[in-house]
Amino acid sequence: MPHARLAVLVSGRGSNLEALHAACGSGRLAAEIALVASNRPDALALTRARAAGIATLACDSRGTGDRAAWDMAFMAAVGAARPDWIVLAGFMRRLDGAAIAPWAGRMLNIHPSLLPRHPGLDTHRRALEAGDAEHGASVHFVTAELDGGPVLAQARVPVLPDDTPERLAARLLPLEHRLLVASLGALLSGRVRLHGDRVWVDGHAAVRPLQLSADGNLS
Ligand code: GAR
Repeated sequence: MPHARLAVLVSGRGSNLEALHAACGSGRLAAEIALVASNRPDALALTRARAAGIATLACDSRGTGDRAAWDMAFMAAVGAARPDWIVLAGFMRRLDGAAIAPWAGRMLNIHPSLLPRHPGLDTHRRALEAGDAEHGASVHFVTAELDGGPVLAQARVPVLPDDTPERLAARLLPLEHRLLVASLGALLSGRVRLHGDRVWVDGHAAVRPLQLSADGNLS
């Protein structure tokens, strides 16, 4: 299988980026990261990418007046790297619909909640405040709706009595890494794809998101 080209969009720390990079390096993903792009020039993820010898693009989105124009120019620059897939790994900006339209079905985001619960920010605190018995992460296809595109796969953790937002986040993060790698693997292999606004798995419209199992597979 020829290697797929990935563009990874980041705004922060870059631990999911590192998980993707490691999976590409070990051959678990038949892919290479062609570009890491950020709307935050000071993102730690960019430093990590440069240290790994990956091409980077930094375009500061702060203080730009015309959101839609910034989004269009940013996505054009990302597209110039000729990615097959675009992965949002801690990219903290909602992109305009026109800018992402060419990438429908080829753009994924990882979000730290069991969507449709808790779209947006502060998901761990909100899960605790809501008294959720279970929390988790979701990988979904990106649409113009914030954290609203069709969900491909999820990973779940129980909420424990002494959890804080920080503890919950720390327990979930390693599962996020496995979930993102497994989801991308399912896309690259052709097992999963977006058909219209539905996720298809193994040739059938999925009735629920795939779930990450203890062995790191999706079922
Ligand atoms: C991850 O927890 C990811 O799920 C979240 O940001 C964090 C990035 O961590 N993404 C969102 O909240 C998107 N709505 P990382 O930079 O270490 O990968």
